[in-house]
Amino acid sequence: MISEKMQDAMNEQIKWELYSAYLYMSMSAYYASTNLMGFANWMRVQAQEETVHALKFYDFINERGGRVELRAVDAPPKDWASPLAVFQDTCDHERIVTGRIGDLVDLARSLRDHASEIFLQWFVTEQVEEESSTDEVVQELKRIQDNSGAMFMLDRELGQRVFTPPAANAST
Ligand SMILES: [Fe+2]
Ligand SMILES: [Fe+2]
Repeated sequence: MISEKMQDAMNEQIKWELYSAYLYMSMSAYYASTNLMGFANWMRVQAQEETVHALKFYDFINERGGRVELRAVDAPPKDWASPLAVFQDTCDHERIVTGRIGDLVDLARSLRDHASEIFLQWFVTEQVEEESSTDEVVQELKRIQDNSGAMFMLDRELGQRVFTPPAANAST
């Protein structure tokens, strides 16, 4: 059985994962409005992955006999100054999420909640990947600057990303 404290913290994390999905969907819409369809695709896939993260917490709370509580999700920003500014925000956002996952691990340890601690390891690893993949695009965009040919190539590359849905009923 999950403790009240961990249940509350994980319900809060569901909200954060859904806000992440909302934020990336908004970024996708922004890119679509500027005709960068590859960037738009990348953010759309990113948003889909965030909903999977939310569902992992959802399933875990249920499995441990807890109660899922869906909380109000804030509206994300709608506009950005440049394609680079979007990815810088993505990078900053992922760093905040990494900090939150770290806080959850600390809480699991302080409660001696080993099941939650093991469950959270997946997210610790995932955040390393999230920070590195978003920072990679930030660095690429900084190199590109106003080179429209290079921008075209990067847009095409980001357009290749596909969403892979998790196996049915997989909770981890
Ligand atoms: Fe996430
Ligand atoms: Fe993420």
